[in-house]
Amino acid sequence: MADHEPENPGTSTATKVSRRDVIKGVIAAGAVSSTSYLFRASTALSDAAAPGAVERLITLNVNGQERRVDVMKQETLAMTLRYKLGLTGTKIGCDRAECGACTVLVDDVPRYSCSVLTHTVRDKKIMTIEGLADANGKLHPVQQGVLDEQGFQCGFCESGFVMATVGFLKTNPNPTRAELAHGVSGNLCRCQDYDKILTALMRGAEYTRKA
Ligand code: FES
Ligand code: FES
Repeated sequence: MADHEPENPGTSTATKVSRRDVIKGVIAAGAVSSTSYLFRASTALSDAAAPGAVERLITLNVNGQERRVDVMKQETLAMTLRYKLGLTGTKIGCDRAECGACTVLVDDVPRYSCSVLTHTVRDKKIMTIEGLADANGKLHPVQQGVLDEQGFQCGFCESGFVMATVGFLKTNPNPTRAELAHGVSGNLCRCQDYDKILTALMRGAEYTRKA
């Protein structure tokens, strides 16, 4: 098959573009956007390592373990968890306290880890999605509810919703659907199947009460 589309009489030679060129462009754009996501962290960390920035070795309590890690004073908890401790279950979506993808528990309270400076939580207990299953690998009841109901599409927002729900259930273990919806209203889903997500989280709440 010829590479070029039939020529549009109104198109000048200079602006003619083949189908192959278009496809190449789309692939390149995708690669650029993925790369910018993947390397945003290293860019942010190197930006933070401006003259005068000094890393300090601190101890964090993460998922019940003492973790020693070098952090800069302006480093966020999300960056430390993902890029220094390898806990990539915590996602970074907006990186500015809007989407909730980065939600973790700090002393059992859901917090946006993209908006918490790591050094401020040295004396707190941090729980990420990796810390929810028990020592034998048995899923937390909220995780099991999500699994059973297949509540998410791409799943990018999932760990944030699960952590927000686990935290919310500590204060209200028997919520109505409306109460739980309000409880996780700080979390956004780009796939936007909120009804299904809520059904899964309600199932998780039910399992948590029975556990
Ligand atoms: S990445 Fe933290 S709220 Fe969006
Ligand atoms: S399931 Fe895709 S962002 Fe929520």
